[in-house]
Amino acid sequence: MPVLGAGAPPRRVGVLVSGRGSNLQALLDACVGEFPARVVSVVSNIPDVYALERASRAGVPTRVLSHRGKPREVYDLELRDQLLSDGVEIVCLAGFMRVLGAGFLHGWPVLNVHPALLPAFPGMHGAKQAVDAGVTQAGATVHLVDAGVDTGPILAQGSVPVFSSDTEDSLAARILPIEHQLYVQALRQVASGRVAVDGRRVVVELVDGERRWIGAP
Ligand code: GRF
Repeated sequence: MPVLGAGAPPRRVGVLVSGRGSNLQALLDACVGEFPARVVSVVSNIPDVYALERASRAGVPTRVLSHRGKPREVYDLELRDQLLSDGVEIVCLAGFMRVLGAGFLHGWPVLNVHPALLPAFPGMHGAKQAVDAGVTQAGATVHLVDAGVDTGPILAQGSVPVFSSDTEDSLAARILPIEHQLYVQALRQVASGRVAVDGRRVVVELVDGERRWIGAP
């Protein structure tokens, strides 16, 4: 069972964004000192988004690669080639509003953060789906990206209560800090080179060769 993102830390991380970039900011802030990863490239499919400003302020090279007018397969390869030429080893999707296909996913760990407790409420508007469904607990999930939409193996989850007064916006605002915390935690584990996928479960390789499910307390 090969570990994900094996190699000498700090691992080179590329972040894909489409908007405000608060998760990007959490990763930028975490990737210092002993943390086993560094953000080396930020790519947006939309020009002039705030995420690009956050990256520039942190001294990270940015690019805009528009998806407009391109077949998905062509765009996937263009993105992949850009990140490969930046020496990226691990990809983090942080509010990136495109679905990526097999041409992009091949060969490196791709992480995503989603504002719901997957497998419930995949796709758009996770917080709204939770409010509409009347659930009493919502939350965030960081998962590995596979060919489906929000279907990959789970790396980290955290929950928050849902209140009867909640709107999509108020619930999303309660979930967001959990996203930031979980994303940093999941990237640390993947970048440490000790995480492997065993069917649907992600396991952490311990120093003595034992494996522990990532969800174990
Ligand atoms: C987050 O809620 C994330 O879960 C979803 O898109 C939003 C992006 O927010 N995939 P930000 O751009 O990281 O602030």
